[in-house]
Amino acid sequence: MKKVIYESVANQKEAAKRPDVTRYEDHAAIPENLKTFAKGRRFFIRTYGCQANVRDEEVMAGYLTEAGFTRTFDPNEADLAIINTCAVRENAEDKIYGEIGSFKANYERDHSFLLVLAGCVMGENGVAESFLKSYPWVALVIGTHDVSRLNPLLGEVLAKKATIVNVRSFSSEVVENLPSVRLNAYEAFVNISYGCDKFCTYCIVPYTRGRERSRRLEDVLKECQDLVNHGYKQITLLGQNVNSYGLDFKDGTTFAELLEKVAKTGIPHLRFLTSYPSQFTDAMLDVMSRYSNIDPWLHFPVQSGSTSCLKRMGRRYTREEYLALVHKIRKAVPNIALTTDLIVGFPGETEEEFQDTLSLCEEVRYSSAYTFIYSPRPGTPAAKMEQVPPEVSHERFNRLKKLIDDLTTESSNECIGKTYTVLVQGPSKKDSNILTSYAPNGKLIHFEGPAYLTGAFAPVKVTSSHVYSLHGELLEDPLIVKAKDVAFTLHADPVVREYLKLDEEVRNNPEIHALGEALVNAKKALALAQGDDQKYPAAKAQYEAVVKQIHEHPLLTNRDALRDAVEDTLKELQEDLR
Ligand code: SAH
Ligand code: SF4
Ligand code: F3S
Repeated sequence: MKKVIYESVANQKEAAKRPDVTRYEDHAAIPENLKTFAKGRRFFIRTYGCQANVRDEEVMAGYLTEAGFTRTFDPNEADLAIINTCAVRENAEDKIYGEIGSFKANYERDHSFLLVLAGCVMGENGVAESFLKSYPWVALVIGTHDVSRLNPLLGEVLAKKATIVNVRSFSSEVVENLPSVRLNAYEAFVNISYGCDKFCTYCIVPYTRGRERSRRLEDVLKECQDLVNHGYKQITLLGQNVNSYGLDFKDGTTFAELLEKVAKTGIPHLRFLTSYPSQFTDAMLDVMSRYSNIDPWLHFPVQSGSTSCLKRMGRRYTREEYLALVHKIRKAVPNIALTTDLIVGFPGETEEEFQDTLSLCEEVRYSSAYTFIYSPRPGTPAAKMEQVPPEVSHERFNRLKKLIDDLTTESSNECIGKTYTVLVQGPSKKDSNILTSYAPNGKLIHFEGPAYLTGAFAPVKVTSSHVYSLHGELLEDPLIVKAKDVAFTLHADPVVREYLKLDEEVRNNPEIHALGEALVNAKKALALAQGDDQKYPAAKAQYEAVVKQIHEHPLLTNRDALRDAVEDTLKELQEDLR
């Protein structure tokens, strides 16, 4: 068996401790041996779980690209692969065994193949060790806190010719300026905080992602502004609980303040995930109702409709408090779509408690919901409570699912006949003539259209509903939609914006108008002086003086200096259009 070096292993008890936060402005240098190895080699990443993992994938892709690897989306071609795991419900481990096994052919073809295991499962006690036993191609095991050390750790794997396990249980680090290769060029996820402090009794997340650490407001804003400048159309602010953003700074910073500042960047669509109900504030609601670029959609996980069950779950609100919040939200933002997460079969759940969940859903009328059967997670308090028999959970799950489907149908039917400006995701997997898109209220809409509309906003009228998706028709000529999209991207570019601003200033500047007139007069005088040896030199000197003044005018020189940069942007756009 290959040598295994255990640098650190998962320890869920340690994970629950709060460390002092150290901030790093930059990440570690790339080891030379990794650069050599990366040349001509390809990486592949498969991600499970939530957006936190998706964002980690983008960052890991950024690191590997910096090291010199190129990307492949075909696992069979990979020289290095990462399995980015999720631990939120059970069975994850079984799936991972199968996944690891599927890379056997890669290893047999070339023994230098490296498999990296990453993500939340690695943070569970004793799990990583069990994966190492029979798979020599597992080269590196990292936890969620070790993503920013991916390259140095890979360098170490190569240098020591060993498997390295590096799963730090808690992190005190917030690393900024992370490299990243985003998965698409029009919508982006931006972390505002890492980890979670809530410790709901069923949940593994605080153990696998550690205690909550907020990113500095200016760092989040800078990342968002950068995305706006690159023509991004949608930003989703991410945190396990966005509502507690900034509390760790103890300086009065709030999520409402951040949300408003991000809304002011002008990003066309702004969303956030996830809101812990009892920390949803009036200030947030006020910001949401004042900025039209904040989407009328709120994911508002209730988990259960029963106050006693919520108490056992460690959720810090009652059914009544949750419902009061929903009414307040609906009053402030009447067209808001509310979605939720629900757990059935939580330990000790009685039929009466379950009925409370059903009646709450009927009262709130969610536009859709994620429903889960409770799954015991080792090391969490609920795993030790009295469990509900699986057949009872399944039967309740089916009843809840039926109700959620009815509510989803009802809210989808309400969309028929309405027009939405949707963000196009691309051709659907089943039919390349059909485009997939999302409306601002989160509804999935399919409509007929060309693939080149991917990433564009399109006006679509909903014609029919199919429970989980809507069908619609494009209301504008696709070429016009595309032209508007190109104009949008062009206008988002800061260099182009500066150029247009200077051009406007040039056209409105009285000094430049006067210079223009002086030039016309000087030209006339020069023409009249032609052949007149006495007058000509003075007229010529006057003409040249005006030309010089024009050449040296700061507004004009500034504008002309930007011309090359604008031309480059246009060339890039042309390339993209091809
Ligand atoms: N921080 C977010 C997301 C947490 S995980 C939040 O608080 O909403 C996403 C969802 O998975 C949770 O909302 C919950 O409904 C579900 N979940 C978490 N742990 C679970 C468990 N042990 N069994 C079943 N569902 C679970
Ligand atoms: Fe888990 Fe609760 Fe934190 Fe959400 S708020 S991540 S459910 S502990
Ligand atoms: Fe899964 Fe980790 Fe997210 S456990 S849901 S990937 S935080």
